[in-house]
Parts: sequence; C-alpha cells; structure tokens
Amino acid sequence: MCDTFLGCHYDHNDIEFQHVLHAMEGCFKIYGGKKSQLLDFVPISRPFLKQHAQKIIDVNEEWYGFLMGKVSGHQKASVADSEPRDFIDCYLAKSLEEPDIFTIEDLKYVLSDMFAGSTDTTANTLKFALLYMVMNPDVQEKVHQESMRVVGTSRLPCLEDRDKMPYTAATIYETQRLATIGPSIPRCATVDTTLAGYSIPKGTNVVCNIWSVHHDSNLWPDPERFDPSRHLNDKLEMVKSPHVLPFGAGRRVCMGETFAKMELFLFFSSLMHRFKFELPPGRESPSLDPAPGFTASPFPFEVLVKEYL
Ligand code: HEM
Repeated sequence: MCDTFLGCHYDHNDIEFQHVLHAMEGCFKIYGGKKSQLLDFVPISRPFLKQHAQKIIDVNEEWYGFLMGKVSGHQKASVADSEPRDFIDCYLAKSLEEPDIFTIEDLKYVLSDMFAGSTDTTANTLKFALLYMVMNPDVQEKVHQESMRVVGTSRLPCLEDRDKMPYTAATIYETQRLATIGPSIPRCATVDTTLAGYSIPKGTNVVCNIWSVHHDSNLWPDPERFDPSRHLNDKLEMVKSPHVLPFGAGRRVCMGETFAKMELFLFFSSLMHRFKFELPPGRESPSLDPAPGFTASPFPFEVLVKEYL
C-alpha cells in the first residue's frame, strides 16, 4: 500500500515504517474502543466524552501530518509531464486540471481512507485464516495438497493459479464468512422508507448487521463450524453465495475488493504452500472469538511453523 499510494517501499524494520505502523495502530485502537463507539452511536454521550474526542483528534492529526509530509514531498519533486509514480502523483495531476474537485485537503482524507480500509482488514482476515488452519488441520492439509498439485515445488502460487485452486478459494471465502471482520456497516436513510414493517425516517443512521447474515442457521447449517466444502458444488467448483458479504454491498461496496482478493489469495496460498501451521504442544486451544477493534481480529495466539522441505 505504501508503494502504490505513497511511492515508498519499506523494509519491515525501517524506522519510518515503524512510525507508520505505530500511528495507524494508534488510530485503529482508539477508533475501535468502546468510548469511540459511544461517541458515534449515542450522541447524548458526547458532552461527557470530550477528552476522548480530543484524543481521537490528536491521533488523527499525527497520522494526517505524516501523510501531508508525503504529499508536500511529491509536490516539490513533481515534474509536470513525467509519468506518475504513484497514487499521489495521479491525484496531483488531476488537481491541476480540476482544482475545485481534487483538493489537497481531500487528498489527505482519501489517503487516510485507503490505508484505514486496506491494512487491518486484509491482515485480520489472514490472521483468522491461520487460526482456522491451526484448528482445522484436515482443511490445511487439503489446501496444501491442492497447491502442490497445481503449483508444484519449483515456484510459489501466482494469480493465474487461482481458478485452478477452488478448495483454497473456498477456504478463504469460508474464513471471510465465519470471521466477518467487518460485522456492521453503517448507512444513512436518504428518504423516508419502510423495511420489514418498520418505518425509517429520512436521516436515520442504520447499521447493517452482516454478522447475522453470515451466521444465520437458516442459510448456513451449523453456522459456527468452519467448513469450506459448503462453498463447493458436486463438481468441486467454488460457488459464490449472495449471502456472503465481507465487502459490503451496493454503491458503497468496498472499493478495494478486487485488490484485497488478490492479496488474500497470494499471501494465504503462499503460506500454505511453504509452511505448516500447528498449535504448539501443550498449549490450550486459542479462542475463536473476535477481539474488539475497528475491524474484528483474533485474540493473540501462538503457532508452531514448520517449513515443508
Ligand atoms: C479483506 C479485505 C477487506 C475487507 C473485508 C473490506 C471490507 C470493506 C467493507 C465491509 C466496506 C464497507 C462497504 C459498504 O459500506 O458497503 C469497505 C469499504 C471500503 N474499502 Fe474495503 N475491505 C478490504 C480491503 C480493502 C482494500 C485492500 C482497500 C484499498 C485498496 C479497501 C478500500 C476501501 C474503501 C476506500 C472503502 C470505502 C468505500 C466507500 O465508502 O465508497 N478495502 N471495505
């Protein structure tokens, strides 16, 4: 994401990258906390939570300050007719054409949205996938065997392999159903409307409960069971369901859905190809419950990683 949006590629230990992680973690931690939820959903609580609201403003300012530093670096370095290097360059080029629409102020929020939308979501989905693999070694073995069959031993999986690996795709899909890392999606009624017999006046905040769809026993027999085969047909092809909505739905559906699916496939299939993940001997089974946060993640858990030789 840093490469695509900011034009900088970091090593994991890079001091600036550690600063990026720290600033983002600060934002996610504070957004996902109970007090922030109260501020969002119970407006009468706001006069009592002024200090907390100020903290949110402070962590945001730190993060925006970092992003704007990158933007001004691009503004100084940009050469009018050279090829754009990244998203910021593309945006700055558009802002020269249409300065009233593509404002620098908005660029700050667009960049921030991109990072908020793309980092925790993908990482937490992968963490849940590893947790489910540790707890379901038979599934893990089938995913590994599929990648051995399709990819072989001389390389790692690539996107061209995806259609030939339906069991792996179904495992990622089942992870997204069961984990539901974005359990509630906020909307606002733009007109007076009626839904399931309830009248909803224009301007009402509505929260779509994706968790309930993903865990509805009328749609998913034994919904708490991790079972990728529920997404395979008789020919062992993967079948998508209109009731799996990890990326939301409608006009505001996740903008990064295609990108995220590529990332999930590449990371997950490569990990399953090279390594076996197990519960360390003598450890209790980790909790499958989601830890509270901006997006749901598993509680920290330990794994024993063995490399296939
Ligand atoms: C597994 C990974 C991801 C999941 C589960 C996920 C999930 C979601 C969900 C549930 C929404 C709200 C959709 C709605 O309101 O109907 C959303 C919005 C959004 N996502 Fe993602 N996302 C993921 C990855 C990404 C990535 C990689 C990017 C960027 C490259 C991204 C960028 C965005 C943006 C910009 C929005 C706001 C769209 C809008 O309001 O118009 N997401 N995402």
